[in-house]
Amino acid sequence: MLPLSVPERLADVVTDGRRLAPFTTWGVGGTPRLLITPRCKEDIANAAKWFAGEDVKFDVLGGGSNVLIADGELSIALLHTQELSSMNVSIQGPDVFIKCGAGVALRSVFSLALRSGWSGLEFAVGIPGTVGGAIFGNAGTLAGDMRSVVFEVETVERDGSFRKWRAGEIAWEYRKCGLAGTEGRILSEATLKLVVSSRESLMRTIELAVSGRRTQPKGVKTAGCVFKNPPEDSAGRLLDAGGCKQLSLGGARVSPLHANFIENHANCTADDILSLALLCRKRVFERFGIMLEFEIKFIGIPAERLNV
Ligand code: EPU
Repeated sequence: MLPLSVPERLADVVTDGRRLAPFTTWGVGGTPRLLITPRCKEDIANAAKWFAGEDVKFDVLGGGSNVLIADGELSIALLHTQELSSMNVSIQGPDVFIKCGAGVALRSVFSLALRSGWSGLEFAVGIPGTVGGAIFGNAGTLAGDMRSVVFEVETVERDGSFRKWRAGEIAWEYRKCGLAGTEGRILSEATLKLVVSSRESLMRTIELAVSGRRTQPKGVKTAGCVFKNPPEDSAGRLLDAGGCKQLSLGGARVSPLHANFIENHANCTADDILSLALLCRKRVFERFGIMLEFEIKFIGIPAERLNV
């Protein structure tokens, strides 16, 4: 592949040859063609224009907590949102608007809301990752999901233009946000809307949400639930009943606590994780006739590899 000549205006935010494994909670992932770490929205727009002009394929990495990145050399460029971490609060009567850069850690907004007694994000207790990633995947728990707190989203389109979306203009589904389907679109900023409440009433809901996580592995390298729950059922229950808790492959194993989590148990590769996930999906299909849908996102892994 020909080396890319980096435009002058992006020279400060582009690096190459950096392994992505340390940026992911699974601790796996290879090296992109180049890595862009924008410091402001204009950097994103400039990167988008450059990518479009040179026809460079790229993907976006947020907190690395819900993603499987292929091993080895990747043929794509990667835009990492970690420096887009500004947060601005404005309070209008009972409403609290928090404008967040795409790379703001969801747990930072959560703790700010908890300290301040602002209600809306209680469901998100313990969810890792960034605001951008959480919105694009409509992250959530049984207690709620991102669609309930999003007020407005700003994206950078493939041609580098900015676009604003009111929450009501966005098609939301369980773990799915309509904005994420368009290739080349990057979430730059989002405004969340919370409401003034009291710390005590937040704590009651948070305790409930925490109790729903008691059966999940902690302190090990995972990426949360690997599969979405099928309608009216639970992927964890199906995987467990299909005997998946006994399965391991290379250094990856299914969590002995919750069958919808795969752990990087002993320095595994992305390929170990993917092969194990595909084996689990096959088991459930053979046993129950249900084809589980992935909740995690993939970077650098061809679609054909997933269709087995
Ligand atoms: N179950 C089993 N065996 C298992 C795991 C689960 O039998 O190994 C059974 C449980 O006993 C329960 C049912 O399956 O009857 C559902 O399990 P759980 O209560 O753990 O909830 P879940 O549907 O697996 C969902 C979200 C989690 C979220 C929790 C708590 C999805 C795919 N998962 O898990 O979100 O933390 O509810 O709110 O929607 C994530 O999205 O990454 C994630 C971890």
